[in-house]
Amino acid sequence: MSFHFNPMAPEFVADPYRTYHRLRTEDPVHHSPLGFWVLTRYEDVVASLRDPRFQKEPMIAAVAARMGVQAGTIGLSMLDRDPPDHTRLRGLASKAFTPKVVEGLRPRVQEIVDGLLDRVEPAGRMDLIEEFAYPIPVNVICEMLGVPVEDHERFKGWSLDLARGLDSIMLGPESEVAKRSGQARQGLTEYMRELIAQRRAAPRADLLSALIAAEEAGDKLTEHELLATCILLLVAGHETTVNLIGNGMLALLRHPDQLRLLREQPTLIATAVEELLRYDGPVQRTARTPTDDVTFAGGRTIPKGEIVMPFIGAADRDPAQFRDPDRLDITRTENRHIAFGLGVHFCLGAPLARVEGQIAINTLIKRLPHLAVAIDRPEYRQSLTLRGLTALPVTF
Ligand code: HEM
Repeated sequence: MSFHFNPMAPEFVADPYRTYHRLRTEDPVHHSPLGFWVLTRYEDVVASLRDPRFQKEPMIAAVAARMGVQAGTIGLSMLDRDPPDHTRLRGLASKAFTPKVVEGLRPRVQEIVDGLLDRVEPAGRMDLIEEFAYPIPVNVICEMLGVPVEDHERFKGWSLDLARGLDSIMLGPESEVAKRSGQARQGLTEYMRELIAQRRAAPRADLLSALIAAEEAGDKLTEHELLATCILLLVAGHETTVNLIGNGMLALLRHPDQLRLLREQPTLIATAVEELLRYDGPVQRTARTPTDDVTFAGGRTIPKGEIVMPFIGAADRDPAQFRDPDRLDITRTENRHIAFGLGVHFCLGAPLARVEGQIAINTLIKRLPHLAVAIDRPEYRQSLTLRGLTALPVTF
């Protein structure tokens, strides 16, 4: 292959889609000199996510070996386990995230969104990320889990550092990112341990108390798994939906015709959110390791034991799957995007993220008709995994 794929290059962070197109056309099953494989075709990404031979636990073990740490210290949550443990852990949390339960949260989400807008409206300007997109999912997940929202300033930094740590494999064990991520896990674990002790003594009607009850019932959940589940939900609640709202609003503001259409027809919000997830999704890639040699449709074989990164963000712009994939079309109905993943690890929080995204975006554009981006080039965070803006100053 003639060109070098550098996931840390500033041009790639600013616009990964051009590189994805090149990889997909020139080297769709790419072996990176950084020691992992990169999949960019929709068909291959979908195949790897559906194929039970592509697993998480061997991937975690391979990453841990590479990083020189013990596998047990990372990767105990459902996100990093395979069946049957994955099935057991997901089952314990899943009742809180069914579409029915989540629909019931709509009025509360609306209240949170309105409250935030009431607060910023008089100023006529805000950082849309910090003052609007971020607090919405944080408030919701804290309330669901039973974590005091007022403590959120304490663990905000930990959550960010943990999310950045997803890139540790690229940066190495001695990197600042890897170190901070380790410290963050420790800080968050200690915080959660304290809170668990409180809820154990005095249970409430929250998800944390329900998970503690499952742990106390015996063989369903170990204490480590309880902690890992809480941390996963807290971080997922912090670092993903914020970027659906942020990336989504930036895309709409850059496509005034689409923004106008949504303002005129708010009922388009459901398809609009799906299109925004496809167009510039918050989770760009995941990782698996095959337990056998696997040959892809184009004929290239990935040997067993290797680290494979299916690029969701690339699959969702594949012209073989989406007509005119680089065009933002909020009325797109043929949209089998995989922004929430696929297969057994399909995002548990998808119904919640959809409700939050739909209410946040529709309320924002309804209440602030003169919304405009206040800077020339909003910047994306340096991350290969999560795609989101560092800030989005707007006026209205
Ligand atoms: C727009 C926002 C979101 C996006 C784009 C997103 C995306 C994803 C993706 C792609 C996966 C699969 C990862 C993989 O296969 O390795 C995933 C898994 C997961 N997500 Fe989300 N997510 C979002 C919001 C949320 C929220 C709000 C929560 C809960 C508070 C959540 C909880 C989870 C959990 C628990 C898993 C692991 C599921 C499993 O392993 O079975 N997500 N998410």
